Amino acid sequence: MRLKGKVALISGGARGQGAAEARLFVQEGARVVVADILEGEGEGVVADIREAGGDASFVRLDVTSEDDWRSAVEFTVETYGRLDVLINNAAIYRRTPIVDTDLEEWKRIMDVNSTGVFLGTKRAVPAMQASGGGSIINVSSTAGLVGSGRGSAYGASKGSVRLFTKYTAIQHARDGIRANSIHPGPIDTEMIADNISTPEGRAESESRVPLGRIGSVMDVAYGALFLASDEASYMTGAELVIDGGVTAR
Ligand SMILES: NC(=O)c1ccc[n+]([C@@H]2O[C@H](COP(=O)([O-])OP(=O)(O)OC[C@H]3O[C@@H](n4cnc5c(N)ncnc54)[C@H](O)[C@@H]3O)[C@@H](O)[C@H]2O)c1
Repeated sequence: MRLKGKVALISGGARGQGAAEARLFVQEGARVVVADILEGEGEGVVADIREAGGDASFVRLDVTSEDDWRSAVEFTVETYGRLDVLINNAAIYRRTPIVDTDLEEWKRIMDVNSTGVFLGTKRAVPAMQASGGGSIINVSSTAGLVGSGRGSAYGASKGSVRLFTKYTAIQHARDGIRANSIHPGPIDTEMIADNISTPEGRAESESRVPLGRIGSVMDVAYGALFLASDEASYMTGAELVIDGGVTAR
């Protein structure tokens, strides 16, 4: 029960890593709001959690909308009385090279992956201040740490998440709010399904990972659990790399 009494809001919680974190956090004693544009999937995660005896709710959230963020945070505080943990997890992925990326694609990726994190943080901080502190976990990527031969906007958006996390950490340390980024390597979710759906594609992806396998959603969820818990009470502005050694090279 490492999160006993805590209330967490998870963007992009309807599937993949966000859904795994929602389930794990509830097992560890938290009450969780699953927030996503995918209503059916999000309601499904919440139904599973409730069936297993946990407490969770779904709220529709498009992370690019400040109004949606306002409502999601209000819903969380009205339903559960407080907000302790925000995971800015929602994102979209494209690997279009720079010269082939049109402006609309660039703006869309920045809007969801970067502006979405800003808006979530801006709206969550006052609720966390009212709760006496909190933990903000921003999901970046190894693509936010190092360059790549593939993609452009995605890496730039994730680099911005990395540094915005440090601004949050510094500006709200004295509020008792910690902010850290997580940098996953390849994780087996819908996001990279195209890359790993064929045996050749999976083998190619695995060959770039020193530990020799694609990560699971639980590999990341346990890192998020640590950052959300009081065990990480002296950690803020830090980068938790969970990448099977990809960026150690
Ligand atoms: N899977 C990987 O290999 C990998 C690697 C590094 C980082 N990440 C990061 O991990 C996080 C989770 O991704 P995942 O692997 O679970 O992928 P995923 O595609 O399964 O999950 C992303 C979730 O974000 C939601 N989302 C997308 N746009 C949204 C919007 N505008 N508003 C609200 N929700 C929205 C989706 O509906 C989905 O539920 C993302 O930030 C991603 O960039 C993933």
